[in-house]
Amino acid sequence: MKNPKRYLVTSALPYANGPLHLGHIAGAYLPADIYVRYLKLKGEDVAFICGSDEHGVPITLRARKEGVSPQDIVDKYHEMIKNSFAELGIAFDIYHRTSDPLHHETASAFFKEMNEKGEFIEKEEEQFFDEQEQQFLADRYIIGTCPKCGFENAYGDQCEKCGTSLSPKELINPKSTLSGNPPILKTTKHWYLDLEKYQHEWLEKWIDSHKSDWKANVYGQCKSWLNSGLQPRAVTRDLDWGVPVPLPNSEGKVLYVWFDAPIGYISATKAWAKENGKNWKDYWQSDDSRLIHFIGKDNIVFHCLIFPAMLKAHGDYILPDNVPANEFLNLEGEKLSTSRNWAVWIHEYLKRQRFYMEGFPDPQ
Ligand code: 2FM
Ligand code: ZN
Repeated sequence: MKNPKRYLVTSALPYANGPLHLGHIAGAYLPADIYVRYLKLKGEDVAFICGSDEHGVPITLRARKEGVSPQDIVDKYHEMIKNSFAELGIAFDIYHRTSDPLHHETASAFFKEMNEKGEFIEKEEEQFFDEQEQQFLADRYIIGTCPKCGFENAYGDQCEKCGTSLSPKELINPKSTLSGNPPILKTTKHWYLDLEKYQHEWLEKWIDSHKSDWKANVYGQCKSWLNSGLQPRAVTRDLDWGVPVPLPNSEGKVLYVWFDAPIGYISATKAWAKENGKNWKDYWQSDDSRLIHFIGKDNIVFHCLIFPAMLKAHGDYILPDNVPANEFLNLEGEKLSTSRNWAVWIHEYLKRQRFYMEGFPDPQ
């Protein structure tokens, strides 16, 4: 877009289930901060948005393991992450959080509005259930062997080894991470986003229109998803932590974390606008605004296909103009990973740096 009036720059909302590591910073935060500083130096009107992604299964798993509530977990890591960003000098205009009531209201209304427009497919389906724990198992609660690369500890939604997106039923020898038992299949109702329909109506054409202005890795990954054919995706889950499905007879169901998290960019913009005498709609609902998402490569499908599909289906929003995504940073040949505790942790780096700067002996 030529000469936009304002810029909305987002960095992926980090999960509040562990500290930041160097891979996060290199992937989504430092490049965005540099870009925003450049725009601001030029005198552009910019909102630089981020916050903690506080829902999802890994947070509930961590809480369960530590014997505390999910809110305790996200309170701890939200503070820690927020402070790390501040100390590093990553200068967001707002660092919000998705457990905030404003976010719950925003995500809830977004879902309701899409539902009223008839954008969801409602479907009953068999899903994995842990009989011992009496709980439906969200994708991350199930591990098994990756059908693509044979990695034995692949999650039900993604193999962290080869990066393939999976559905739990594709795993070989699936096991519940809660009890360790093989799960059974049980029927449950969910709401699905009709990505197959959007692909044919406009999504494919829209991605093609970005062949020359999006990074080759981003465009290439989108094309590979589209070439395999998008399928309807459930945007709700059976879980007791998240934004409750705002419809009658849906107790025990919440919005899927990847449905509510990108809406977190909208709720964070609302909070920032309120504090700064701005109108959030100028940034999200005006054609002369330019929306740019900085992310890591595992987030490409969500920011280039699924979130744009949600924005367009809702109807009131602009679509991202660019989605600069970086490849993973490796440490001794392995991808940096919070869940596998393989990283250079930012809070440790900052502590060490403080000791050096202030002339204290090495903290170890
Ligand atoms: O991959 C992640 O760390 C996610 N928490 C990113 C979410 S980005 C956005 F959609 F909120
Ligand atoms: Zn794999």
